[in-house]
Amino acid sequence: MEEKLKIPLSKVYVDRDIKEVVCKVLDSGWYILGERVTQFEQRFADFCGVKHAVCTSSGTAAIFLSLLALGVGPGDEVIVPSFSFMATASPVLHVGAKPIFVDIDLRTYTLNPNEVKKELSKRTKAIIPVHLYGHPADMDSILEIAEKNNLFVLEDACQAHGAKYKGKKVGGIGHVACFSFYPSKNMTVCGDGGIVTTDNEEIAEKIRMFRNHGRRAKYVHGILGYNLRFNEIQAAIGLKQLEKLPAWNEIRRKIAQAYNKSLNGLVITPIEEQWAKHVYHMYVIRTEKRDALQEFLKKHGVSTGIHYPVPIHKQPATTGIVDSNLTLKNTEESAVTVLSLPMYPQLTQLEIEYVCEKIAFFLGENR
Ligand SMILES: Cc1ncc(COP(=O)(O)O)c(C=O)c1O
Repeated sequence: MEEKLKIPLSKVYVDRDIKEVVCKVLDSGWYILGERVTQFEQRFADFCGVKHAVCTSSGTAAIFLSLLALGVGPGDEVIVPSFSFMATASPVLHVGAKPIFVDIDLRTYTLNPNEVKKELSKRTKAIIPVHLYGHPADMDSILEIAEKNNLFVLEDACQAHGAKYKGKKVGGIGHVACFSFYPSKNMTVCGDGGIVTTDNEEIAEKIRMFRNHGRRAKYVHGILGYNLRFNEIQAAIGLKQLEKLPAWNEIRRKIAQAYNKSLNGLVITPIEEQWAKHVYHMYVIRTEKRDALQEFLKKHGVSTGIHYPVPIHKQPATTGIVDSNLTLKNTEESAVTVLSLPMYPQLTQLEIEYVCEKIAFFLGENR
């Protein structure tokens, strides 16, 4: 009888090195916004090729604080894809602005610039392209629209650490960019965490103040702020993970190639535009038989995910905010057909083959 493997969707890398640095921080007696946070911010800024990086308590907080720092608020509209994690849009609502949901390009699952043009209004203040699954959005087209209409561009790079657009790392393309360090991401701080990257010193400084009670000095509060800070344990882990990220991304790309080779022709496999460097945060296929295939894989020990089954414009939380007649064809089609396969650097050739064999078997039986 064939051995049944148990393959998770993603896996966090923690080694002795990481455990040791955590213990060092515990012994240090300084836990919040210390020298490790500053060092991590500098390294991450260098990694993205920007001047400033500001750590926050999550990717969601990074987007929220960026919108505040850009002055987005009541009366403003922000163009966002509906096919993303909820946190692309919820901070727009939290700052009092209105998200305007736009359809994606079905090839890359990222914001379609032609659809963005149709939704521009006098109130549009910003555009949030999402580099979904690790594939960059079509940034030149989006930046051109933004320049012509005097809009800010906030890159949601929460899934795209190290991805490149025309040879340039994401995170250094829009006015600001936001990353998440949630455990499933290409690099993590083993908890919640995020970072904003920007070349604009004024924006970086505002975010630094907003994240820390609006402080100028210890007990001088220049503006009304929040507690959305980062801690030293996370920074120490982040520094270690950032060192390994480029090699991990290359392994993810090799795994994607291996999947492509076996799955091409069976399902719709992810594409990488010739101007893109995809970092495969998720390896996402599309098939009409998605739900049954997911169930079949689960029975055979393979965990998969659906990112995302309910578009943001169809979420209960956005009822009353979004026109109930709004239809976004590609978004809605993707929501019922996408399936994320196991993807993490430790995935073995044997495991990849096992997943692909199971998919091929299922589709052969269910033509
Ligand atoms: C596209 C996208 N935007 C925003 C977020 C929010 O990040 P976090 O979970 O760190 O708040 C995530 C992460 O889950 C994400 O995938």
